[in-house]
This record gives sequence, C-alpha cells and structure tokens, in this order.
Amino acid sequence: MSDIAAIKDKYEGEIAGASDLKALNDIRVAALGKKGEVSMMMRGLGQMTPDEKKVMGPALNGLKNDIADLIETRKSVLELEAMNAALAAETMDMSLPVDVSMGTLHPVQQVMEEMAVIFSDMGFSVAEGPDIEDDFHNFTALNFPPGHPARDMHDTFFMEQVGEEEKKVLRTHTSPVQIRTMINQKPPIRIIAPGRTYRCDSDQTHTPMFHQVEGLVIDKETHMGHLKGVLMDFVSAFFETDVDVQFRPHHFPFTEPSAEMDVRYERVGSEIRIGQGEKWMEILGCGMVHPNVLRACGLDPEEYQGFAFGMGVDRLAMLKYGMPDLRDMFAADTRWLGHYGFSPLLQANLATGLS
Ligand code: PHE
Repeated sequence: MSDIAAIKDKYEGEIAGASDLKALNDIRVAALGKKGEVSMMMRGLGQMTPDEKKVMGPALNGLKNDIADLIETRKSVLELEAMNAALAAETMDMSLPVDVSMGTLHPVQQVMEEMAVIFSDMGFSVAEGPDIEDDFHNFTALNFPPGHPARDMHDTFFMEQVGEEEKKVLRTHTSPVQIRTMINQKPPIRIIAPGRTYRCDSDQTHTPMFHQVEGLVIDKETHMGHLKGVLMDFVSAFFETDVDVQFRPHHFPFTEPSAEMDVRYERVGSEIRIGQGEKWMEILGCGMVHPNVLRACGLDPEEYQGFAFGMGVDRLAMLKYGMPDLRDMFAADTRWLGHYGFSPLLQANLATGLS
C-alpha cells in the first residue's frame, strides 16, 4: 500500500512540474496509457488471491482516478496559460490609418446590404445556408419530385459522387434556405436568404455563378395581400422612387398560386428608367408556399401558410446602377470596381439614403 502512496506522490510532483500540454500528455501515457505504470499494475490484479484483490482493486482504482484528476486540473491551467500567451502575442494595432481609396464595396455586396436594410426594417432577419446542397433541400422538399421535368429548368451543376453518398449539387437557387429554416425554426418565420447560386449558363445576362435573395414568411394568417404589400414596398424603397408594379400568374413547383412581378420602365437612349414609361420588366418570382413544401418541413398546412419570393441580385444591381454587362461583375477588373464600387465607410441605411 505504501507503494501506491509513493507512486501517487511521484506523479503528483511530475504533473505539477509539467510545463506544457505535451509534457503533461507524456506523463499521462507513462502512468495511464495502455502500457503505463498504473495500467500494468492493474493488469497484475488477475494473479492475486481474492483477499489481496479486495484490497488492491479499490486502491489501484483510486490511484488511477487521483492521477487522472490531477492531470485534468493541470491541463486546464496549462490551456488557460497557452490561451493567455496567444492573446498577448496576437495583438493588433488598431491605430493604423486606413486608406479608403484602396478598396470599394462590390455593387453586389452593396445591393445585398441595401436589401437587408429594407427587409430588416419590415421585421425580416437574414438566414444563410450552404452553397453545396443535397437533392432533398434543393429539389425534393421544394416539391420537385424525383424525375420531375421542372428539375431540367435549372441547368444544374452536379458534384462528383463520393462513395455511396448521393451526388451533391451546387444550389440552383437560394430556396433550399427556406427549407432549412422551416425545418429548424418554429413559425412565425420572417427571413431573407441572400447568397450565391449556380446554373450552367453564360451570356450577356447570365453567369454560371450569380446571386439571389430569397424571402420567406410563414405564419397562421399570412395571405397574398401581405405578399403584394411587402414586395410593392420593397421595390419603391429599393429604386428610391415610386414604382408601379404588376403581378402576372406564373408557375413554380414550390408555390401555389405563383406569380412574377414586373416593374414599369422606359428606355431613354441607352438608359433604363425604372418606375415610369409604358413597358414592363420582370424582376422577381413569388407565390404562396405550396402545402407539399410545408408538409416536407413538418408543418401542418391546415395551421400554417405563408409566401416566398426570390430575385436575382446581380440583375437588380445592373438595373439600379446602370451596368450593361453582367459578366463584368465577376471579371475582377479593378478599373471596373473603382468605377462602380461603393465606399466601404458609407453604410446603406434608410435614414440618410440607401446609396
Ligand atoms: N427559386 C426561384 C428561382 O430561382 C425563385 C422563387 C423563389 C420563386 C420563391 C417563387 C418563390 O427561380
């Protein structure tokens, strides 16, 4: 028994002396590892008489627990010391002057922030989801059953298959974020989901990567009037002028009824003026969330309903700020960014103006 007390004393001393986590771990292995001193002694129990075992069993267990406790306690101290040392070493000099002429906010970033400001004023919060999605969130739960022809509308990029797992896709819209939100959050829900989306398409008005903002409202008494009111308020706030809109019936698998919203515009020379004129331009898709989508997310369509909408951020940025070619947006040309970019210090807000 005095052996055990001596072993405990020995390790207690070593543990107190361990100067870093690595040294501490070496001590743990030497004492409690598979071939450690205490483990080997415990293995010796098998050869003892029942009377010896009755005494040595609990004693060795106690020794093992005491050493483990000492190691844990020392470990917390060393971890704290390591963190404090890292914090002290990684200080940042915040007093350096910033040269704001060096960088600008990309118009896509600016427009997403303008949208977030407008919708947060209406009580929406911002939700996000992964760019690489599974078939369930991008299609099936959105009421595109497997094999449904509507899946072909979305020129999908498929990821390479990994093992037995089903092939992932680059999300073709931000609508999977509405699925993730409805599954994880109890209504009432009021979110917008800004982010990157991908479709295999490239010309003057399409790029393989583009940006969307999706909106979703779910509650017990939400109806199409709310949908129209929110979107009408949104476009006037966004274009910073009164904008006349019209809703045209449309089809999306995930909404019923579905509509597209057009804004009135006219072309003067090469300039597009939103809000006035005789022509209509489609700017977003919307509708009442389909009961099958609610069911796929575990919501009872008899109890909950709501609306969703989705729009292309890059196109709205082009319309608002007069950029002629979508592809320039992602060419990373600093001359273009210098011309169309926004000051990073002027935050979009409703009080002093969005842009
Ligand atoms: N997800 C649709 C698209 O990318 C847009 C949309 C969203 C339409 C929500 C209606 C409701 O085409």
